[in-house]
Amino acid sequence: AIRRASSSSTTSHIVRRSYASGSHPERKVAVLGAAGGIGQPLALLMKLNPLVSSLSLYDIAGTLGVAADVSHINTRSEVKGYTGEDQLGQALEGCDLVIIPAGVPRKPGMTRDDLFNINAGIVKGLAAAIAKYCPNALVNMISNPVNSTVPIAAEVFKKAETYDEKKLFGVTTLDVVRAKTFYAGKAGVHVADVNVPVVGGHAGVTILPLFSQATPAGSNLSDEEIKALTKRTQDGGTEVVEAKAGKGSATLSMAYAGAVFADACLKGLNGVPNIVECSYVQSTITDLPFFASKVRLGKNGVEEVLGLGNLSDFEKEGLENLKAELKSSIEKGIKFANS
Ligand code: NAI
Repeated sequence: AIRRASSSSTTSHIVRRSYASGSHPERKVAVLGAAGGIGQPLALLMKLNPLVSSLSLYDIAGTLGVAADVSHINTRSEVKGYTGEDQLGQALEGCDLVIIPAGVPRKPGMTRDDLFNINAGIVKGLAAAIAKYCPNALVNMISNPVNSTVPIAAEVFKKAETYDEKKLFGVTTLDVVRAKTFYAGKAGVHVADVNVPVVGGHAGVTILPLFSQATPAGSNLSDEEIKALTKRTQDGGTEVVEAKAGKGSATLSMAYAGAVFADACLKGLNGVPNIVECSYVQSTITDLPFFASKVRLGKNGVEEVLGLGNLSDFEKEGLENLKAELKSSIEKGIKFANS
């Protein structure tokens, strides 16, 4: 069996095969939206994760084929497919972790906020079911606009009196994945060694990569190069949306990022120390109620929201510039949840 050391820089090895099972506790993981562009490859990657004992695949349609297909892979977890709202309770019951990539993706010319009208309602309904059937589960929110869908879920959980701020995460890992890839290319360092925190939120200018804290340092990047890297990270999603020309947004890289973040959450639950990933969570490190930053994961979900560290002047300016948009996206989510 392969046991990886517990640092975020090793998470890219999660898809390595392992027959270990006895040594890991039972963990039930659900993917909601499992028949979608993200959901299918994410189901595959979660099936490869030896920390999962039961994999629950839910969608409004098309889940049974995906579940039958993935279930034939000879890894630890037992796979079950659930279709339609009347099976949602069964899909969720006993879950330790629920991953939500349900909802519509962007088309060229759309912002993530343009998805609000459809996805806000989907997320509200799924959050209500989580409150009812697995109120103690960690929730990994992928559905956009993440800046608003996380506050929506929080409000639904508050109303149901199940809210635990340590257990609700907006998945911003794809921003980190992109920042690492783009930085490695420019700085001329090995991509597998790279770490770059990305803070703020998950849309346009609210995505703030902190390249001043990137490791390894590599060749000295000019201010212009840092600016260009920042812009490319912020527009990474749009780059894919345009290349797919109407056929959706990032699905494969998102599934990878979602699997990395879910793996980190499971390791935290299992008591592996020093698991740190960036995520959009309830926060007091700025004056905004939700904010993405490094968080330490543990047995209860978020063990600690880590501070921003030293920022360059360019990053300080970026931080000030993102606050208004992030604040209004949060308020929009809260307002919708309570309407
Ligand atoms: P997709 O349209 O291919 O798949 C979405 C799936 O959700 C479909 O199978 C659909 O049947 C399902 N669905 C719709 N309503 C549902 C409900 N009430 N319950 C369960 N399932 C439901 O879309 P794709 O490409 O998989 O994207 C999904 C979401 O992920 C979008 O909102 C997209 O914007 C977001 N996304 C987030 C990223 C991030 O970094 N956080 C990156 C890329 C996409």
